[in-house]
Amino acid sequence: MDNSVISLIEKLAKSHSLELFEYRELIEKRTPESAELLAEYAVKARREIYGNSVFTRGLIEIGNYCKNDCLYCGIRRSNAACERYRLSEEEILSCADEGYSLGFRTFVLQGGEDAFFSDEVMCGIIRKIKAAHPDCAVTLSLGERSFESYKALREAGADRYLLRHETASKAHYERLHPPEMSFENRMKCLEELRSLGYRVGCGFMVGSPFQTARELAEDLKFIERFKPDMCGIGPFIPHRDTPFRGEPPGTLELTCFLLSIIRLIYPPILLPATTALGTIADNGRELGILAGANVVMPNLSPVSVRKKYELYDNKVCTGEESAQCRGCLEARMKSIGYEIVTDIGDIRFPSPQAGKNRQEKQIGGTIKSRID
Ligand code: 5AD
Ligand code: FES
Repeated sequence: MDNSVISLIEKLAKSHSLELFEYRELIEKRTPESAELLAEYAVKARREIYGNSVFTRGLIEIGNYCKNDCLYCGIRRSNAACERYRLSEEEILSCADEGYSLGFRTFVLQGGEDAFFSDEVMCGIIRKIKAAHPDCAVTLSLGERSFESYKALREAGADRYLLRHETASKAHYERLHPPEMSFENRMKCLEELRSLGYRVGCGFMVGSPFQTARELAEDLKFIERFKPDMCGIGPFIPHRDTPFRGEPPGTLELTCFLLSIIRLIYPPILLPATTALGTIADNGRELGILAGANVVMPNLSPVSVRKKYELYDNKVCTGEESAQCRGCLEARMKSIGYEIVTDIGDIRFPSPQAGKNRQEKQIGGTIKSRID
């Protein structure tokens, strides 16, 4: 291994930061040996905070109607072949009840940008889940909404929000999205969510069209600056009914490499080994954990709708055999020496000092936040 690469990895492990050109070099010059060294440091950093625990969240895909037309996404509005659905409030609540008895203490309500799920509808659902399960966190993943909307949802009890930034390069963002979508608004949403006291997750696809080491380095600098509570990364996988159908998918190898880097940038971060990673390789999620991830998000949606929430081709966990993703993932994690825990799975700041400017206290499962 190149000595300059070893010193970059050591610098990153020690100072949690590299220059843009250094990230680029680390990515461009990567080898199986540098990936292994990086993963060793990453696993050590994670173990110091989380031991061998893997947090879990029950993912409920509440609907696939979407007003957006992102070029990569299988549920984009112009995909006429996509069979649309919405879960009813009763269905969502019963997924949460079932999830609770399976041991989930966090529910992620994810869906396309759909006016049907108005603030009124969502606030009602959030309140009911929190009333039924006060020891659980509710995470939303419903795309871009107004500040007022994020505020209302937060006041109804939502604790966390996942909104992938998709890419930290404006020029790249514009090649992945139609002109009516804006990079600035995406970033504004992330700032607003944080200002409202949500735990915030951002993230990006690995190997999306037009992405090079330069764009990835920008994503890493963004993570250094923003310090998200969570960062979801997974390989881009083409969907047959999108303009990117012929593009090559992202790789397991680069995704794992980046998981290790992100762990070292911000050791306490929550990093999921995503479903997309489990889709490009059968043991992708296990390898993601071994590279530094510490979260898995099993599917809790009714099996009858799972095939319809198809963001990319061949998504795993959509068949009858996947009715119980939690059990499947428990076995998978056990096989590599990790344990899925029944826990709300909040980020653990290393010392009280570290979370000082964002003091949070958990009261009856609701995260009360104050921005200093
Ligand atoms: N491949 C991989 N990930 C995708 N997403 C959307 N389409 C794809 C695809 N074709 C990701 C996006 C989005 C998240 C919900 O799923 O990053 O934010
Ligand atoms: Fe869903 Fe294995 S995690 S079937």
